Amino acid sequence: MSNYEPILLARIGKPESYKLEGYRADGGYEAFLKALKNSKPNEVVDTIKNSGLRGRGGAGFPTGLKWTFLPKDHPGPIYLCVNADESEPCTFNNRILMELDPHQVLEGVMLACYAIKSSRAYYYIRYEYGLSYRRLQAAIDELYAAGLLGQNIQGSGFNLDIYLHRGAGAYVCGEETGLIESLEGKRAWPRIKPPFPAIEGAFRKPTIVNNVETLACVTQIMRRGIDWFKSIGVAPDPKNPRDAGSYGPKLYCVSGHVNNPGCWELPLGVTSNELIRLAGGVWKGRKVKAVVPGGLSMGFLTANELEVPLDFNGPGKVGCLGLGTAAITVIDDQTSMIDVLHNTCQFYAHESCGQCTPCREGTGWMLKITDRLRKGQGRKEDLDILVEVADRIGIMPGSTICGLADGAGWPVKNAIRKFRQEFEDAIKTGRRSHLRPLAMAH
Ligand code: NAI
Ligand code: SF4
Repeated sequence: MSNYEPILLARIGKPESYKLEGYRADGGYEAFLKALKNSKPNEVVDTIKNSGLRGRGGAGFPTGLKWTFLPKDHPGPIYLCVNADESEPCTFNNRILMELDPHQVLEGVMLACYAIKSSRAYYYIRYEYGLSYRRLQAAIDELYAAGLLGQNIQGSGFNLDIYLHRGAGAYVCGEETGLIESLEGKRAWPRIKPPFPAIEGAFRKPTIVNNVETLACVTQIMRRGIDWFKSIGVAPDPKNPRDAGSYGPKLYCVSGHVNNPGCWELPLGVTSNELIRLAGGVWKGRKVKAVVPGGLSMGFLTANELEVPLDFNGPGKVGCLGLGTAAITVIDDQTSMIDVLHNTCQFYAHESCGQCTPCREGTGWMLKITDRLRKGQGRKEDLDILVEVADRIGIMPGSTICGLADGAGWPVKNAIRKFRQEFEDAIKTGRRSHLRPLAMAH
């Protein structure tokens, strides 16, 4: 791992790495201009499909496959929405790309639009990301001035406009149909699926929603080829015909109780132990109690699970919901898991949009019970009630519209299963937890 040369972050240390001139000097936009000249849109779709690229926003859905879900021979318009509403706690990989190398992402937007025959992209960016917003707008202005956006780009007959849209400051704005509703000027209430956005999305037209890092990967695949991408990461498990593998580089964020929080680009499949070492180890000489593998909804890895590969399959094998955003949060051995869980429940109760009764009420109940636990007022039956509520509110039984409820329930079930003794001891002794908030990146 130590000799891996970053590609997505390769330009980050350069002076004014966010400007068009420097990006073009490093070969920027050559892949886009080459595709315009030499490739048909469906050939670009095939390249991305064959590369095995899976979405970096959290779900890991195959990107090229998603593009093929668009209706064939649709008269248009077809839209691309960039999901830059990066709101998963402790996740900041997209922000780094947008602030320091926005053209790499925009080239991916342009390639994706060419592939899906879209002449309009909506770039939906988290409201709190002020610098990213300004850098992206400046980058888009540079592209218009250079004749790389607008009508009949470089005489190719391809037209493309990119609109930057600031988000509305809520977690649920990052759920793709909540994002679309918000883009349309409404409250970000997620829509019932199907239809998926590929069939009926923004303004009821076919729409592809892709994450920022995914689009940066599109740029690099079109520049360097499928073999390069597949030489990095983890190949599919031959014993599992449904495994699509975990190819390519990934931006791993590390935060929480470490000495040097940060973001590292590494091949998919590194371990929490390797990331913690890169982040200078656990702070104050303490030990790890738990690690959140990639966003609060994924659950927890225990100190015995830190060698699990952080690819699209690894965390799931030890009871986590998945890899999520690959932004690990380290929790030290002096921290109460009751506090951690209470903090988590507070987040989801606050962010539930309230449309579905099980999610609205269930997240509130889980918050009330964990609040009781941390105050030393827990009851014997509380743990079973928590697990039952967490089990029943999710999208899997079909009782809620979006994945937030599942995401709220999973860490509750997972924490109680993996750290039950700590919870039981606290209830038995009536001990108050430290009431100390977990150090979060934002
Ligand atoms: P999902 O698995 O429902 O969908 C993933 C993508 O595949 C979507 O674009 C969806 O439209 C598409 N898709 C799935 N099945 C399809 C079908 N049959 N036909 C057409 N398209 C289909 O996951 P979801 O709810 O979009 O994302 C959940 C993940 O998002 C979580 O794992 C969480 O980690 C992550 N997340 C990331 C955040 C961030 O800040 N990056 C914030 C919040 C959540
Ligand atoms: Fe809103 Fe929760 Fe229903 Fe999602 S599951 S639509 S966040 S109430």
